[in-house]
Amino acid sequence: MVVKVLLVGDAGREHAIAEAICRSRLDPKLYAAMRLRNPGIIRLCRKTGGEYVLGKITDPAFIVEAAKKFHVDFVFVGPEEPLFHGVSDALEAEGIPCIGAKKGPAELEMSKAFMRRLMWKHKVPGRLRFKAFKNVADAVAYIREYAESVALKPARQVGGKGVKVIADLQAYLSKEKTQVKEAHAKIIGEEHMKGYTDIEDKILIEERVEGPEYTLQAFTDGRTVKPFPLVQDNKNAFEMDIGPETGGMGSISGPGMLLPFINEYEYRRSVEIVQACVRAVEAETGQKYKGVVSGQMMLTALWGPTIIEFYCRFGDPEAVNVLPILKSDMVEVCEAIIDERLNKVKLQFEEAATVVKCVSPKGYPDRRDLAKGHPALIDEEKIRRKGGKVYYASTDLQPDGTILTGGSRLVEIFAKGKTIPEASAKAEACIPYVRLADGWGVFHRSDIGSEVLLKRRIEQAELVRGVYRYRLRKGLIGKTIEWIPGRGKIVLEA
Ligand code: GLY
Repeated sequence: MVVKVLLVGDAGREHAIAEAICRSRLDPKLYAAMRLRNPGIIRLCRKTGGEYVLGKITDPAFIVEAAKKFHVDFVFVGPEEPLFHGVSDALEAEGIPCIGAKKGPAELEMSKAFMRRLMWKHKVPGRLRFKAFKNVADAVAYIREYAESVALKPARQVGGKGVKVIADLQAYLSKEKTQVKEAHAKIIGEEHMKGYTDIEDKILIEERVEGPEYTLQAFTDGRTVKPFPLVQDNKNAFEMDIGPETGGMGSISGPGMLLPFINEYEYRRSVEIVQACVRAVEAETGQKYKGVVSGQMMLTALWGPTIIEFYCRFGDPEAVNVLPILKSDMVEVCEAIIDERLNKVKLQFEEAATVVKCVSPKGYPDRRDLAKGHPALIDEEKIRRKGGKVYYASTDLQPDGTILTGGSRLVEIFAKGKTIPEASAKAEACIPYVRLADGWGVFHRSDIGSEVLLKRRIEQAELVRGVYRYRLRKGLIGKTIEWIPGRGKIVLEA
C-alpha cells in the first residue's frame, strides 16, 4: 500500500524535508499544505502523484481538513507556528499521526521563559540566569536597578527577531548602556510582541554569554533522541558577521557529526542537554514529544555547551545541510517516531562536509516589502553542473510559470565536498545563476564556509574552551563570580 504524507510549510527547510520523504524506498505520495506556492515542493507533489492546497497553515482545522481530504497516513509539520497553534494536537484528536510537537512540548520554543524555568527546575546543565517580565514598565525598572551585561529578548518566539545583546562592562558608560537597554525593552514590548496574546511574559532579560553558536537538530519519539550532524548557521546579513540579524544567511556542517570548532565531548554534552529537556518537558506537560527538537547552542566559558534557544523543528537553513545527506529512509524514521520505536533506528549520513548559501532579494530582512514580488530567474541545470542544488525558499509560483519572490530568502544553494571550504567554493560558483529578471538586486554571503571564517570560529572556540577548562578544574561550572561593592566576591550558584 502506498504511504501518503502531508507536509505543512513552504520554505527551504520544507523543500528539503519533502525531498527526503520522496527519496524513501516506500515510494510515498507527497501532499503539501502551504501559504505560498513553493515550486520545489509542488514539483515533488506532482512527481509522486500527490497534490497541494493553499491556506492558513496555522489553522488546525485547515490542516485536519487537508489530511482527511488526501487520506494521508501521517503529517509532517515543518515550521513552528502551526505547532504553537495546536495543529499536532488537532490531528491527534482525529487519529492522524503527526511528526511535530504538540502545543505543550512546543512551548520549549514558543516561550523562552517556560524553557528557562524548565531548565532550572530540572537542573539541566547549560542554563542561564534570567528574569521574565509581563510588561515594559517592570523590565525598565529592573534595567535601571541593575547594571549588567544582558541579552534582551522577546519572551515569545517571534520569527527570530528582536534579540539584542548588550555588554555593560565600563562604569563610565553605564548610564548610556542603561538607556540603550530601556529603549530596546520598549521596542520588544511595543513592536516585537505586539499582537501576541497567547503568552503572558513579554520581555526576557538573560545573562550575557559569549562563544561560537551551533545547532544540534534531532528526531525524538519522546523516549529516544537521535541527533543529526551539528550545523552552524550565520545569522548576520552581511559578510564577517556584520549587519542585521536574519533567519540565517547560510550554514555549514561536517564532515561527520562534529564541526571544526566543536569536539566529541562537547557534542555528547549537547546531546545530553537536549535529551534532558525532552524528558523534562514530558514531566512538566504530561505529553510525549514526537517530532524534531533542536538546541540552538553556544560554547561558553560558563557551561561549555549552553542552550540559547530551543526549536521544536529543524532550523532553516540548517535542515538543508543535513537532510540531503541523510541515508536512512525518512518515511521509515517517521513511522518509528509514530510507533515510539526510534531506539531501533540508526540514523545514517553520508560522510560529507556541506555548505548552504542563502540568496536573498535586497531589502531583506528589514524591508521585506521591497524584497517581495520580483520575478526570479534560477538556472537549476547550470547550478547542478557546478555541483550545487537549489532548495526553493520564499517563492510563489505563478500560473504562467513565473517564480515571484516572497520577501524573505529566495533560494538556498546546497553543496557538499570533502571539506567545508571545498563545499563553499562549489556553492559560490552557483550564485551567478540566481538573479531577478527585473534587475532588482540579490545578495548572499560569500564568506560562509570560507577558510577565513572557519579560522575565526575555531579561534573563538579555543578562547572560550580555555576558560571553560579552567573553570572545570576549579569547580566553577555554571557558577558566576561577581564583585559587589561592600560585600566583596560572591559566587552565584547555578
Ligand atoms: N536558522 C535559524 C532558525 O531556523 O530559526
